[in-house]
Amino acid sequence: MYFKTSAVAATAVLATSALAQSGNSLVDVISGNSDLSTLTALLTNGTFGNFSSLVNTLSNSTNGNWTIFAPSNSAFDGVQITNSTDLSSILSYHTINGSHPSSQFKDGSNIVATNLTNSTYDHFPSGGVPLNVKVSGNTVNVYYGANYANVTSADNTASNGVVHVINTVLIPPTDVNSTALQAGLDKFVYALNSTNSTDGINKKSGITIFAPNDGAFSSDALAKYNSSQLANILAYHVVEGLYFSSNLTNLTSPINITTEAGQNFTLDVSGGSVKLTDVSGNNTAHVVKTDILTDNGVIHVIDSILIPAQNASSVAANNTNITSSTSGVGSLFESREISRVAVALTVLSAFAALML
Ligand SMILES: *[C@@H]1O[C@H](CO)[C@@H](O)[C@H](O)[C@H]1NC(C)=O
Ligand SMILES: *[C@@H]1O[C@H](CO)[C@@H](O)[C@H](O)[C@H]1NC(C)=O
Ligand SMILES: *[C@@H]1O[C@H](CO)[C@@H](O)[C@H](O)[C@H]1NC(C)=O
Ligand SMILES: *[C@@H]1O[C@H](CO)[C@@H](O)[C@H](O)[C@H]1NC(C)=O
Ligand SMILES: *[C@@H]1O[C@H](CO)[C@@H](O)[C@H](O)[C@H]1NC(C)=O
Ligand SMILES: *[C@@H]1O[C@H](CO)[C@@H](O)[C@H](O)[C@H]1NC(C)=O
Ligand SMILES: *[C@@H]1O[C@H](CO)[C@@H](O)[C@H](O)[C@H]1NC(C)=O
Ligand SMILES: *[C@@H]1O[C@H](CO)[C@@H](O)[C@H](O)[C@H]1NC(C)=O
Ligand SMILES: *[C@@H]1O[C@H](CO)[C@@H](O)[C@H](O)[C@H]1NC(C)=O
Ligand SMILES: *[C@@H]1O[C@H](CO)[C@@H](O)[C@H](O)[C@H]1NC(C)=O
Ligand SMILES: *[C@@H]1O[C@H](CO)[C@@H](O)[C@H](O)[C@H]1NC(C)=O
Ligand SMILES: *[C@@H]1O[C@H](CO)[C@@H](O)[C@H](O)[C@H]1NC(C)=O
Repeated sequence: MYFKTSAVAATAVLATSALAQSGNSLVDVISGNSDLSTLTALLTNGTFGNFSSLVNTLSNSTNGNWTIFAPSNSAFDGVQITNSTDLSSILSYHTINGSHPSSQFKDGSNIVATNLTNSTYDHFPSGGVPLNVKVSGNTVNVYYGANYANVTSADNTASNGVVHVINTVLIPPTDVNSTALQAGLDKFVYALNSTNSTDGINKKSGITIFAPNDGAFSSDALAKYNSSQLANILAYHVVEGLYFSSNLTNLTSPINITTEAGQNFTLDVSGGSVKLTDVSGNNTAHVVKTDILTDNGVIHVIDSILIPAQNASSVAANNTNITSSTSGVGSLFESREISRVAVALTVLSAFAALML
């Protein structure tokens, strides 16, 4: 909704920064909406930095067209903004290049790159931490990390783009383990940590993770594996490259996907469900939740654990794929030289927790 009543007051604020411009620019649309007065204040009152250059960009259509997911006033309740780099990153994460009215988004997931390219946050090869604009009938939600915002007022059209009002401030995801925890994947995160795989997976760029849910870890299927084997099993669930659901739904025949464990699994789509089959053919998993975006890739939740076909002694040798990776600074498997005793102890404690 566009609340005309506040336009005069908001224009006065902008006039003081000498950036006011008659017309229907993104700045006019934002400052003219009383439900966006906090955002307007953040852009113009200088408390958390000087955003006059951004305001200028958004005022002048010669600078390009933009789509803004604009958090409403109540969206800022409880959000701690402490400084300008913080706010600047958050604002970039709410901005996408080009004018994208809601009619441009197809039903289902739409992965869009934001203007957030700061390397502290952006670990995507193509640049720009993505959001997932998910459409279902008349409902539009913006998914970020394991969370989402509702679009409460779509298509506030400006001469240089469009504003969609949302009810939550989008906070960029920080790492795989944090996003996975927020998604309720506690046992997967515990398994990453217990095998010292967390740093390795966090340092990757542009990956797809098929993360088993907690239910998948409840069987004793993993009890016979030691820590380094478990690390390899986890690596078997990580794939170089970005496979969003939109890349997978159109498959007409099964495809082989090479994992970070150096072995393939098969991915097949039939009857609307995505099925993964490991090399043995004995273990299958189904994707139960798609497109959880993190800072370096995408997580799909699966309902079972896949096992790479290799015996314990060959595990380390087969891991060259990940240890020699150009994008990974670390390895998913950092401590192979640990003693058997240490492994046994770690594994016992790891599985005590995994089996909870
Ligand atoms: C500027 O706006 C922000 C957000 O509404 C507010 O927290 C801050 O107190 C304002 N600062 C001034 C000086 O008005
Ligand atoms: C818009 O930007 C262009 C190029 O930067 C500049 O020449 C022009 O004066 C600006 N217009 C206004 C109204 O600020
Ligand atoms: C912005 O969009 C308008 C309308 O689609 C188009 O005519 C214009 O060229 C675009 N401007 C820029 C700088 O891309
Ligand atoms: C800005 O705020 C963020 C988040 O609160 C914090 O991590 C960062 O250290 C702060 N930077 C400066 C320069 O104060
Ligand atoms: C988006 O990022 C580019 C490159 O950093 C910058 O030039 C542009 O002004 C940004 N646009 C907005 C609306 O923040
Ligand atoms: C990127 O973000 C970090 C953390 O907020 C900040 O310290 C840094 O100045 C930012 N870099 C740029 C180029 O804005
Ligand atoms: C927000 O979106 C969720 C998921 O689509 C929906 O269940 C909920 O009712 C929406 N909330 C509001 C306030 O629109
Ligand atoms: C992660 O593993 C380390 C040992 O490698 C352990 O000290 C730490 O408590 C674990 N953290 C969590 C959250 O499980
Ligand atoms: C993980 O790293 C910690 C600290 O380097 C080490 O004590 C522990 O044994 C390692 N665990 C495994 C399973 O490699
Ligand atoms: C995620 O893992 C990193 C190590 O890569 C660690 O510093 C951070 O505390 C972890 N976050 C959570 C929420 O466990
Ligand atoms: C998935 O599709 C996008 C475009 O929609 C493309 O950029 C990307 O490369 C595809 N991923 C893979 C792994 O082919
Ligand atoms: C998948 O198929 C739909 C409908 O045929 C099409 O609109 C879409 O672009 C396709 N996606 C990819 C990644 O090929």
